[in-house]
Amino acid sequence: MTNYAHITGWGMAVPDHVMTNHDIAEMVDTNHDWIVSRTGIHERRIADEKESTASLATKAAFRALDRTDLKPNELDLVIVATATPEHLFPATACLVQDNIGAINAGAFDLSAACSGFIYGVSLASQSIQSGAIKSALVIGSETLSRFINWNDRGTCILFGDGAGAFVIEASEEPGGYLASVMRSDGSGGSLLEIPAGGSQLPASAETVHNLDHTIHMNGREVFRFATRVMAGATRDVSERAGIKVEELDMIVPHQANQRIIQAAARGLDLPMERFVMNLDRYGNTSSASIPIAACEAIEAGKITPGDKIVLVGFGAGLTWGALALEWVAPDRRISTTKRQRRRLRARWARLRSYYRRFARWVEGLLFGAVVEEDEDS
Ligand code: UT7
Repeated sequence: MTNYAHITGWGMAVPDHVMTNHDIAEMVDTNHDWIVSRTGIHERRIADEKESTASLATKAAFRALDRTDLKPNELDLVIVATATPEHLFPATACLVQDNIGAINAGAFDLSAACSGFIYGVSLASQSIQSGAIKSALVIGSETLSRFINWNDRGTCILFGDGAGAFVIEASEEPGGYLASVMRSDGSGGSLLEIPAGGSQLPASAETVHNLDHTIHMNGREVFRFATRVMAGATRDVSERAGIKVEELDMIVPHQANQRIIQAAARGLDLPMERFVMNLDRYGNTSSASIPIAACEAIEAGKITPGDKIVLVGFGAGLTWGALALEWVAPDRRISTTKRQRRRLRARWARLRSYYRRFARWVEGLLFGAVVEEDEDS
């Protein structure tokens, strides 16, 4: 029996707060026309103090699950692709696993920056195809605004916050995941980095003073790299999937810069109408940009069952990659009953989490004392 990996659910979440180019022009020496002409971005969403990478990821995850018949406790795996995790550890994926009540799932974070969602869907789909697991939730989630130097006009204009998620399930019907390409070039690591906060340069008063915990980027070099790899990865993955590039119905590119996407379209000799674009409203949300763009394209009827599509991205690392999919799931409206059930599930997961913490505390009181007694004797 052949296992296929079908994307059966998708969901997105973005903060309500909109930051326009005009707002940024009040902070640094830039203007709306420059930003639009050099990037295509008009505005981006910025998380408030109550929102975080995990909270956005949790919302997107519940919305993706709402489209499926899968219960959170039936999930086998939760992957959160993120460059802005809540902590170095525990993994943001574990926080999401607890928030949604995915009590039977393994959970881990995936660090491949803006290519993270491509890598995550690729690994999860291949695990499903191998028969090792039956279902997975892959989320790209970011709060990049927490790592921006708001005095650096070369970077602060680009990024935004948000999350997008896919639920992937095993099926005996053909379609779904077809092929992927995952590539990297660590020699370009310093072109796009957050230098401090890891083991090489731990946090200190000096790193904070030097703004070493914010995004540092060589924009021109990243631009050159991106224009080179986007068309190449799309071509490679199409070939692996046995599809001619001109037969692709839609391409969902990483939303970094309109000019990069236009260069990819020229390189592939495809019209811009085949490329999903929403960076004018969200900017670059790193690992979340591809699933957010995919969600909006599905809801707008631009991606429909039977379509052959490619998702393609690049980012820090340097990393890049692409996925070829045959879209199988129809866009289903989420019923009110499902929404109500989701709220109940969220409450139940929270209660369960409190209970687990309480039980661990009680166990600590009872058995911690026994261990101490044993050690004394
Ligand atoms: O997920 C991956 C994330 N990263 C990317 O995708 C970044 C890829 N790179 C880019 O998108 C572009 O390189 C930028 C949008 C960041 C910059 O655009 P550019 O056309 O490459 O500009 P540049 O860096 O070559 O700078 C051209 C000029 C410079 O002035 P001088 O030296 O020529 O006088 C900059 O100082 O534009 C200036 N400049 C700005 N001017 C107004 C740079 N940023 C700004 C700004 N507003 N925000």
